[in-house]
Amino acid sequence: MHLKMNVLVIGSGGREHALCWALKKSSDIETLYCAPGNGGIEEVAVCAPLNTEISDEVINFCHKNKIEFVVVGPEVPLVAGLVDDLSAAGIDAFGPRANAAALEGSKGFMKDLCREFDIPTAAYERFTDPKAAKVYLKTQSMPIVIKADGLAAGKGVIIPTTLDEAEATVDDILGGKFGGAGAEIVIEEFMQGEEASFFVLTDGTNILPLATAQDHKPVGDGDTGPNTGGMGAYSPAPVMTEEMIQTTIDTIIKPTVAAMTSRGAPYTGVLYAGLMITQDGPKLIEYNVRFGDPETQVLCARLDSDILPALRATANGTLNEVSISWKDEAALVVVMAAKGYPDAYVKNTQIANLAAANETPNVIVLHAGTKKEGGEILSTGGRVLGVTATGQTVTDAQKNAYAAINKINWPEGFCRSDIGWRAIAREE
Ligand code: AMP
Ligand code: GLY
Repeated sequence: MHLKMNVLVIGSGGREHALCWALKKSSDIETLYCAPGNGGIEEVAVCAPLNTEISDEVINFCHKNKIEFVVVGPEVPLVAGLVDDLSAAGIDAFGPRANAAALEGSKGFMKDLCREFDIPTAAYERFTDPKAAKVYLKTQSMPIVIKADGLAAGKGVIIPTTLDEAEATVDDILGGKFGGAGAEIVIEEFMQGEEASFFVLTDGTNILPLATAQDHKPVGDGDTGPNTGGMGAYSPAPVMTEEMIQTTIDTIIKPTVAAMTSRGAPYTGVLYAGLMITQDGPKLIEYNVRFGDPETQVLCARLDSDILPALRATANGTLNEVSISWKDEAALVVVMAAKGYPDAYVKNTQIANLAAANETPNVIVLHAGTKKEGGEILSTGGRVLGVTATGQTVTDAQKNAYAAINKINWPEGFCRSDIGWRAIAREE
Protein backbone atom coordinates (compact mmCIF):
# COMPACT_ATOMS: atom_id res chain seq x y z
CA MET A 1 0.00 0.00 0.00
CA HIS A 2 1.25 3.47 -0.85
CA LEU A 3 1.36 5.48 2.39
CA LYS A 4 0.76 9.17 1.95
CA MET A 5 1.76 11.86 4.40
CA ASN A 6 0.59 15.26 5.56
CA VAL A 7 3.04 18.06 4.88
CA LEU A 8 3.20 21.63 6.23
CA VAL A 9 4.95 24.52 4.50
CA ILE A 10 5.90 27.53 6.67
CA GLY A 11 5.68 30.98 5.06
CA SER A 12 3.44 33.31 3.10
CA GLY A 13 5.40 34.58 0.12
CA GLY A 14 5.82 33.84 -3.56
CA ARG A 15 8.52 31.32 -2.67
CA GLU A 16 6.05 29.39 -0.55
CA HIS A 17 3.36 29.52 -3.24
CA ALA A 18 5.90 28.06 -5.66
CA LEU A 19 6.89 25.33 -3.18
CA CYS A 20 3.24 24.49 -2.48
CA TRP A 21 2.47 24.39 -6.20
CA ALA A 22 5.38 21.95 -6.71
CA LEU A 23 4.52 19.86 -3.65
CA LYS A 24 0.88 19.64 -4.69
CA LYS A 25 1.99 17.53 -7.66
CA SER A 26 3.64 14.96 -5.35
CA SER A 27 2.03 11.56 -5.31
CA ASP A 28 3.14 11.09 -1.67
CA ILE A 29 1.06 13.86 -0.08
CA GLU A 30 -2.31 13.29 1.55
CA THR A 31 -3.03 16.86 2.73
CA LEU A 32 -0.80 19.86 2.08
CA TYR A 33 -0.96 22.63 4.70
CA CYS A 34 0.61 26.07 4.69
CA ALA A 35 0.99 28.50 7.59
CA PRO A 36 0.16 31.27 7.32
CA GLY A 37 -0.13 31.12 3.49
CA ASN A 38 -1.81 33.70 1.27
CA GLY A 39 -4.70 34.22 -1.15
CA GLY A 40 -3.06 32.18 -3.90
CA ILE A 41 -1.66 29.42 -1.71
CA GLU A 42 -5.15 28.63 -0.41
CA GLU A 43 -5.99 27.34 -3.90
CA VAL A 44 -3.46 24.51 -3.45
CA ALA A 45 -3.05 24.05 0.32
CA VAL A 46 -5.07 24.27 3.52
CA CYS A 47 -3.93 27.55 5.06
CA ALA A 48 -3.69 27.98 8.83
CA PRO A 49 -3.20 31.36 10.54
CA LEU A 50 -0.38 30.27 12.88
CA ASN A 51 2.17 32.55 14.49
CA THR A 52 5.14 30.67 13.04
CA GLU A 53 7.56 32.49 15.34
CA ILE A 54 6.15 30.48 18.23
CA SER A 55 7.49 26.95 17.80
CA ASP A 56 4.94 25.42 20.17
CA GLU A 57 2.11 26.74 18.03
CA VAL A 58 3.60 24.98 15.00
CA ILE A 59 4.33 21.78 16.94
CA ASN A 60 0.79 21.60 18.36
CA PHE A 61 -0.65 22.13 14.90
CA CYS A 62 1.54 19.31 13.54
CA HIS A 63 0.44 16.90 16.27
CA LYS A 64 -3.21 17.79 15.82
CA ASN A 65 -3.13 17.35 12.03
CA LYS A 66 -0.74 14.36 11.96
CA ILE A 67 1.86 16.29 9.99
CA GLU A 68 4.98 14.24 9.39
CA PHE A 69 7.11 16.67 7.43
CA VAL A 70 7.57 20.44 7.63
CA VAL A 71 9.22 22.60 4.94
CA VAL A 72 10.42 25.90 6.41
CA GLY A 73 10.48 28.69 3.79
CA PRO A 74 11.86 31.89 5.35
CA GLU A 75 15.15 32.54 7.17
CA VAL A 76 13.75 34.11 10.34
CA PRO A 77 12.25 30.92 11.84
CA LEU A 78 15.33 28.93 10.71
CA VAL A 79 17.73 31.29 12.45
CA ALA A 80 15.43 31.26 15.50
CA GLY A 81 15.66 27.45 15.71
CA LEU A 82 12.29 26.19 14.45
CA VAL A 83 13.89 23.09 12.91
CA ASP A 84 15.67 22.32 16.20
CA ASP A 85 12.35 22.60 18.06
CA LEU A 86 10.47 20.45 15.53
CA SER A 87 13.17 17.75 15.66
CA ALA A 88 13.05 17.74 19.46
CA ALA A 89 9.31 17.14 19.13
CA GLY A 90 9.93 14.22 16.76
CA ILE A 91 8.82 15.99 13.57
CA ASP A 92 11.04 15.84 10.48
CA ALA A 93 11.73 19.20 8.89
CA PHE A 94 13.47 20.60 5.84
CA GLY A 95 15.92 23.38 6.64
CA PRO A 96 19.06 23.92 8.69
CA ARG A 97 19.21 23.98 12.47
CA ALA A 98 19.99 27.33 14.10
CA ASN A 99 23.73 26.63 14.45
CA ALA A 100 23.96 26.08 10.67
CA ALA A 101 21.48 28.84 9.76
CA ALA A 102 24.11 31.21 11.20
CA LEU A 103 25.57 31.17 7.66
CA GLU A 104 22.83 33.68 6.84
CA GLY A 105 22.06 34.89 10.39
CA SER A 106 25.53 36.37 10.89
CA LYS A 107 27.55 37.76 8.00
CA GLY A 108 30.61 37.83 10.27
CA PHE A 109 30.22 34.10 10.96
CA MET A 110 30.02 33.38 7.23
CA LYS A 111 33.06 35.55 6.45
CA ASP A 112 35.18 34.01 9.22
CA LEU A 113 34.33 30.55 7.89
CA CYS A 114 35.45 31.62 4.41
CA ARG A 115 38.70 32.98 5.82
CA GLU A 116 39.42 29.85 7.84
CA PHE A 117 38.69 27.46 4.97
CA ASP A 118 40.05 29.55 2.10
CA ILE A 119 36.70 30.04 0.34
CA PRO A 120 36.85 32.84 -2.25
CA THR A 121 34.97 35.93 -1.04
CA ALA A 122 35.54 39.69 -0.70
CA ALA A 123 38.31 40.80 1.70
CA TYR A 124 36.74 42.07 4.95
CA GLU A 125 36.99 43.00 8.61
CA ARG A 126 34.41 42.93 11.43
CA PHE A 127 33.73 45.84 13.80
CA THR A 128 31.62 46.79 16.80
CA ASP A 129 33.52 50.00 17.55
CA PRO A 130 32.85 52.93 15.18
CA LYS A 131 36.28 54.46 15.84
CA ALA A 132 38.12 51.29 14.81
CA ALA A 133 35.85 50.96 11.76
CA LYS A 134 36.69 54.50 10.65
CA VAL A 135 40.42 53.96 11.07
CA TYR A 136 40.08 50.88 8.81
CA LEU A 137 37.98 52.81 6.26
CA LYS A 138 40.80 55.33 5.80
CA THR A 139 43.03 52.50 4.53
CA GLN A 140 40.45 51.30 1.97
CA SER A 141 39.43 52.46 -1.50
CA MET A 142 35.90 53.46 -2.50
CA PRO A 143 33.28 52.25 -3.23
CA ILE A 144 33.21 50.00 -0.20
CA VAL A 145 30.55 47.63 1.13
CA ILE A 146 29.20 47.97 4.69
CA LYS A 147 26.85 45.30 6.05
CA ALA A 148 24.88 44.88 9.25
CA ASP A 149 25.91 41.53 10.72
CA GLY A 150 22.41 40.17 11.39
CA LEU A 151 19.16 39.70 9.49
CA ALA A 152 17.84 42.97 8.09
CA ALA A 153 15.27 41.78 5.55
CA GLY A 154 17.67 42.32 2.65
CA LYS A 155 18.20 46.01 3.51
CA GLY A 156 21.35 45.72 5.62
CA VAL A 157 23.88 46.29 2.81
CA ILE A 158 25.09 49.82 1.98
CA ILE A 159 27.62 50.66 -0.73
CA PRO A 160 29.05 54.13 -0.04
CA THR A 161 31.07 55.81 -2.78
CA THR A 162 32.87 58.41 -0.62
CA LEU A 163 34.72 58.23 2.69
CA ASP A 164 32.29 60.74 4.28
CA GLU A 165 29.34 58.61 3.28
CA ALA A 166 31.09 55.46 4.52
CA GLU A 167 31.79 57.05 7.93
CA ALA A 168 28.18 58.18 8.22
CA THR A 169 27.02 54.65 7.33
CA VAL A 170 29.18 53.19 10.11
CA ASP A 171 27.57 55.60 12.60
CA ASP A 172 24.06 54.85 11.27
CA ILE A 173 24.35 51.08 11.50
CA LEU A 174 26.32 50.82 14.75
CA GLY A 175 24.00 53.57 16.08
CA GLY A 176 20.98 51.29 15.70
CA LYS A 177 19.54 51.88 12.20
CA PHE A 178 18.87 48.14 11.90
CA GLY A 179 18.40 47.51 15.61
CA GLY A 180 20.26 44.54 17.07
CA ALA A 181 21.09 43.25 13.56
CA GLY A 182 23.54 46.16 13.31
CA ALA A 183 25.31 45.79 16.67
CA GLU A 184 28.22 44.54 14.60
CA ILE A 185 29.22 45.37 11.02
CA VAL A 186 31.27 43.79 8.28
CA ILE A 187 33.22 46.12 6.00
CA GLU A 188 34.26 44.46 2.77
CA GLU A 189 35.89 45.01 -0.57
CA PHE A 190 33.60 46.00 -3.45
CA MET A 191 33.68 43.22 -6.03
CA GLN A 192 33.01 43.76 -9.71
CA GLY A 193 31.28 41.33 -12.02
CA GLU A 194 27.96 39.76 -12.85
CA GLU A 195 25.85 38.30 -10.05
CA ALA A 196 24.25 34.85 -10.08
CA SER A 197 22.37 32.68 -7.63
CA PHE A 198 23.29 29.02 -7.26
CA PHE A 199 21.24 26.50 -5.29
CA VAL A 200 22.17 23.10 -3.93
CA LEU A 201 20.48 20.68 -1.60
CA THR A 202 22.74 19.13 1.00
CA ASP A 203 22.25 16.70 3.87
CA GLY A 204 25.60 17.61 5.42
CA THR A 205 27.49 14.99 3.40
CA ASN A 206 25.96 14.71 -0.05
CA ILE A 207 25.41 17.64 -2.38
CA LEU A 208 22.75 17.77 -5.08
CA PRO A 209 23.12 20.81 -7.34
CA LEU A 210 19.74 22.27 -8.29
CA ALA A 211 19.90 25.07 -10.81
CA THR A 212 21.19 28.55 -11.48
CA ALA A 213 19.20 31.76 -11.60
CA GLN A 214 19.65 35.47 -11.77
CA ASP A 215 17.44 37.94 -9.99
CA HIS A 216 16.88 41.64 -10.46
CA LYS A 217 17.19 43.41 -7.13
CA PRO A 218 16.87 47.10 -8.13
CA VAL A 219 13.33 48.42 -8.39
CA GLY A 220 13.66 50.20 -11.76
CA ASP A 221 14.20 49.26 -15.39
CA GLY A 222 17.85 49.00 -16.39
CA ASP A 223 18.62 47.83 -12.83
CA THR A 224 18.30 51.34 -11.41
CA GLY A 225 16.93 52.68 -8.13
CA PRO A 226 16.92 51.20 -4.63
CA ASN A 227 17.29 47.49 -3.97
CA THR A 228 14.23 45.35 -3.28
CA GLY A 229 13.74 41.72 -2.29
CA GLY A 230 13.80 40.97 -6.05
CA MET A 231 11.67 42.31 -8.91
CA GLY A 232 12.06 39.29 -11.15
CA ALA A 233 14.31 36.37 -11.97
CA TYR A 234 15.07 33.80 -14.61
CA SER A 235 16.69 30.40 -14.83
CA PRO A 236 19.09 29.16 -16.06
CA ALA A 237 21.63 31.99 -15.72
CA PRO A 238 23.80 31.92 -18.85
CA VAL A 239 26.81 33.30 -16.95
CA MET A 240 26.84 30.02 -14.98
CA THR A 241 28.45 27.77 -17.56
CA GLU A 242 29.12 24.11 -16.72
CA GLU A 243 32.69 25.05 -15.88
CA MET A 244 31.62 27.93 -13.64
CA ILE A 245 29.18 25.64 -11.84
CA GLN A 246 31.90 23.05 -11.24
CA THR A 247 34.33 25.69 -9.95
CA THR A 248 31.62 27.00 -7.61
CA ILE A 249 30.93 23.52 -6.25
CA ASP A 250 34.62 22.71 -5.81
CA THR A 251 35.86 26.00 -4.34
CA ILE A 252 32.78 27.32 -2.48
CA ILE A 253 30.03 24.76 -1.83
CA LYS A 254 32.02 21.61 -0.94
CA PRO A 255 34.45 23.36 1.44
CA THR A 256 31.50 25.07 3.18
CA VAL A 257 29.53 21.86 3.69
CA ALA A 258 32.67 20.04 4.94
CA ALA A 259 33.56 22.95 7.24
CA MET A 260 30.12 23.08 8.85
CA THR A 261 30.16 19.32 9.43
CA SER A 262 33.69 19.45 10.88
CA ARG A 263 32.56 22.20 13.25
CA GLY A 264 29.76 19.99 14.56
CA ALA A 265 27.06 22.08 12.89
CA PRO A 266 26.22 20.04 9.78
CA TYR A 267 24.25 22.02 7.24
CA THR A 268 21.08 20.40 5.93
CA GLY A 269 18.62 22.07 3.61
CA VAL A 270 18.98 24.24 0.57
CA LEU A 271 22.14 26.29 0.44
CA TYR A 272 21.75 29.38 -1.71
CA ALA A 273 25.03 30.98 -2.74
CA GLY A 274 24.85 34.59 -3.93
CA LEU A 275 27.83 34.80 -6.28
CA MET A 276 29.84 37.48 -8.00
CA ILE A 277 31.39 36.15 -11.18
CA THR A 278 34.62 38.15 -11.16
CA GLN A 279 37.61 38.11 -13.49
CA ASP A 280 39.20 35.72 -11.01
CA GLY A 281 36.22 33.36 -11.05
CA PRO A 282 33.19 32.96 -8.78
CA LYS A 283 33.35 34.59 -5.35
CA LEU A 284 30.82 34.29 -2.57
CA ILE A 285 28.82 37.45 -1.81
CA GLU A 286 26.61 35.85 0.78
CA TYR A 287 24.87 32.64 1.79
CA ASN A 288 21.17 32.31 2.29
CA VAL A 289 19.92 29.28 4.19
CA ARG A 290 16.61 29.00 2.33
CA PHE A 291 15.26 29.10 -1.19
CA GLY A 292 15.46 32.45 -3.00
CA ASP A 293 12.44 34.59 -3.60
CA PRO A 294 11.63 35.04 -6.50
CA GLU A 295 14.20 32.51 -7.77
CA THR A 296 12.19 29.58 -6.40
CA GLN A 297 9.31 30.50 -8.68
CA VAL A 298 11.49 29.87 -11.74
CA LEU A 299 13.18 26.79 -10.26
CA CYS A 300 9.79 25.21 -9.57
CA ALA A 301 8.60 26.09 -13.08
CA ARG A 302 11.57 24.19 -14.55
CA LEU A 303 11.41 21.26 -12.17
CA ASP A 304 10.46 17.99 -13.84
CA SER A 305 10.55 15.70 -10.77
CA ASP A 306 8.55 15.17 -7.62
CA ILE A 307 10.15 17.63 -5.19
CA LEU A 308 9.07 15.88 -1.97
CA PRO A 309 11.49 12.89 -2.08
CA ALA A 310 14.42 15.29 -2.58
CA LEU A 311 13.37 17.50 0.34
CA ARG A 312 12.85 14.49 2.61
CA ALA A 313 16.15 12.89 1.60
CA THR A 314 17.87 16.20 2.41
CA ALA A 315 16.37 16.13 5.88
CA ASN A 316 17.13 12.49 6.63
CA GLY A 317 20.63 12.15 5.18
CA THR A 318 19.89 10.03 2.10
CA LEU A 319 20.39 12.60 -0.62
CA ASN A 320 22.75 10.22 -2.43
CA GLU A 321 19.69 8.08 -3.28
CA VAL A 322 17.80 10.88 -5.06
CA SER A 323 18.10 12.64 -8.38
CA ILE A 324 16.20 15.51 -9.89
CA SER A 325 15.46 16.31 -13.51
CA TRP A 326 14.77 19.64 -15.12
CA LYS A 327 12.75 20.64 -18.13
CA ASP A 328 14.85 21.70 -21.06
CA GLU A 329 13.17 25.11 -20.93
CA ALA A 330 13.87 28.52 -19.54
CA ALA A 331 11.65 30.14 -16.93
CA LEU A 332 11.18 33.76 -16.00
CA VAL A 333 9.19 35.51 -13.27
CA VAL A 334 8.08 39.13 -13.27
CA VAL A 335 7.16 40.46 -9.84
CA MET A 336 4.22 42.84 -9.59
CA ALA A 337 4.54 45.13 -6.58
CA ALA A 338 2.39 47.78 -4.96
CA LYS A 339 3.20 51.30 -6.24
CA GLY A 340 5.68 52.92 -3.85
CA TYR A 341 7.51 49.70 -2.96
CA PRO A 342 10.25 49.36 -1.62
CA ASP A 343 9.19 52.51 0.29
CA ALA A 344 5.69 53.11 1.66
CA TYR A 345 2.82 51.60 -0.32
CA VAL A 346 -0.92 51.12 0.00
CA LYS A 347 -2.41 47.74 0.94
CA ASN A 348 -5.82 46.19 0.38
CA THR A 349 -6.21 47.22 -3.25
CA GLN A 350 -8.17 45.00 -5.57
CA ILE A 351 -6.54 42.88 -8.28
CA ALA A 352 -8.80 41.74 -11.12
CA ASN A 353 -8.59 39.39 -14.12
CA LEU A 354 -6.15 36.96 -12.54
CA ALA A 355 -8.04 33.98 -13.95
CA ALA A 356 -7.52 35.23 -17.52
CA ALA A 357 -3.82 35.83 -16.84
CA ASN A 358 -3.48 32.32 -15.43
CA GLU A 359 -4.96 30.87 -18.61
CA THR A 360 -2.15 32.31 -20.73
CA PRO A 361 -0.23 29.33 -22.17
CA ASN A 362 2.86 28.34 -20.14
CA VAL A 363 2.07 30.81 -17.36
CA ILE A 364 1.23 30.50 -13.69
CA VAL A 365 0.46 33.50 -11.51
CA LEU A 366 2.03 32.91 -8.10
CA HIS A 367 0.92 35.05 -5.17
CA ALA A 368 3.38 36.76 -2.83
CA GLY A 369 1.27 39.20 -0.82
CA THR A 370 -2.45 38.67 -1.30
CA LYS A 371 -5.54 37.62 0.59
CA LYS A 372 -8.89 36.42 -0.64
CA GLU A 373 -11.90 38.29 0.69
CA GLY A 374 -15.44 37.72 -0.53
CA GLY A 375 -14.19 36.11 -3.72
CA GLU A 376 -11.85 39.03 -4.51
CA ILE A 377 -8.07 39.11 -4.39
CA LEU A 378 -6.61 42.02 -2.39
CA SER A 379 -2.98 43.08 -2.04
CA THR A 380 -1.41 42.69 1.40
CA GLY A 381 2.26 43.44 0.84
CA GLY A 382 4.96 45.18 -1.20
CA ARG A 383 5.71 42.32 -3.57
CA VAL A 384 2.28 40.98 -4.45
CA LEU A 385 2.39 38.64 -7.48
CA GLY A 386 5.02 36.66 -9.37
CA VAL A 387 3.90 36.06 -12.91
CA THR A 388 5.92 33.01 -13.88
CA ALA A 389 6.33 31.69 -17.41
CA THR A 390 8.31 29.07 -19.28
CA GLY A 391 9.54 29.09 -22.89
CA GLN A 392 12.14 27.56 -25.19
CA THR A 393 14.39 30.55 -24.43
CA VAL A 394 14.42 33.35 -21.85
CA THR A 395 13.12 35.60 -24.66
CA ASP A 396 10.08 33.33 -25.15
CA ALA A 397 9.47 33.02 -21.42
CA GLN A 398 9.60 36.80 -21.11
CA LYS A 399 7.01 37.22 -23.89
CA ASN A 400 4.68 34.78 -22.16
CA ALA A 401 5.05 36.46 -18.78
CA TYR A 402 4.30 39.96 -20.10
CA ALA A 403 1.37 38.65 -22.16
CA ALA A 404 -0.19 37.47 -18.91
CA ILE A 405 0.66 40.69 -17.06
CA ASN A 406 -1.12 42.71 -19.73
CA LYS A 407 -4.34 40.95 -18.80
CA ILE A 408 -4.11 41.77 -15.08
CA ASN A 409 -6.13 44.74 -13.96
CA TRP A 410 -4.44 46.28 -10.93
CA PRO A 411 -4.11 50.08 -11.18
CA GLU A 412 -2.22 50.32 -7.87
CA GLY A 413 0.48 47.88 -8.98
CA PHE A 414 3.59 48.10 -11.14
CA CYS A 415 6.34 45.88 -12.52
CA ARG A 416 9.63 46.23 -14.34
CA SER A 417 9.38 45.91 -18.12
CA ASP A 418 12.83 44.44 -18.77
CA ILE A 419 13.17 41.34 -16.60
CA GLY A 420 15.70 38.99 -18.19
CA TRP A 421 17.49 41.65 -20.23
CA ARG A 422 20.99 40.27 -19.72
CA ALA A 423 20.03 36.78 -20.90
CA ILE A 424 17.91 38.14 -23.75
CA ALA A 425 20.81 40.30 -24.98
CA ARG A 426 22.92 37.13 -25.08
CA GLU A 427 20.20 35.27 -27.02
CA GLU A 428 19.82 37.96 -29.70
P1 AMP B 1 23.42 40.82 0.05
O1 AMP B 1 22.21 41.19 0.84
O2 AMP B 1 24.63 40.47 0.87
O3 AMP B 1 23.13 39.88 -1.10
O4 AMP B 1 23.83 42.14 -0.72
C1 AMP B 1 22.90 42.82 -1.51
C2 AMP B 1 23.56 43.25 -2.77
O5 AMP B 1 24.65 44.12 -2.49
C3 AMP B 1 24.16 42.11 -3.56
O6 AMP B 1 23.21 41.47 -4.36
C4 AMP B 1 25.18 42.84 -4.39
O7 AMP B 1 24.56 43.49 -5.48
C5 AMP B 1 25.67 43.90 -3.45
N1 AMP B 1 26.89 43.47 -2.76
C6 AMP B 1 26.99 42.85 -1.56
N2 AMP B 1 28.27 42.61 -1.25
C7 AMP B 1 29.01 43.08 -2.27
C8 AMP B 1 30.41 43.16 -2.54
N3 AMP B 1 31.34 42.73 -1.67
N4 AMP B 1 30.80 43.73 -3.70
C9 AMP B 1 29.91 44.22 -4.57
N5 AMP B 1 28.57 44.20 -4.38
C10 AMP B 1 28.13 43.65 -3.23
N1 GLY C 1 16.07 37.04 -4.33
C1 GLY C 1 16.93 37.31 -3.23
C2 GLY C 1 16.68 36.54 -2.03
O1 GLY C 1 15.86 35.63 -1.99
O2 GLY C 1 17.34 36.82 -1.03
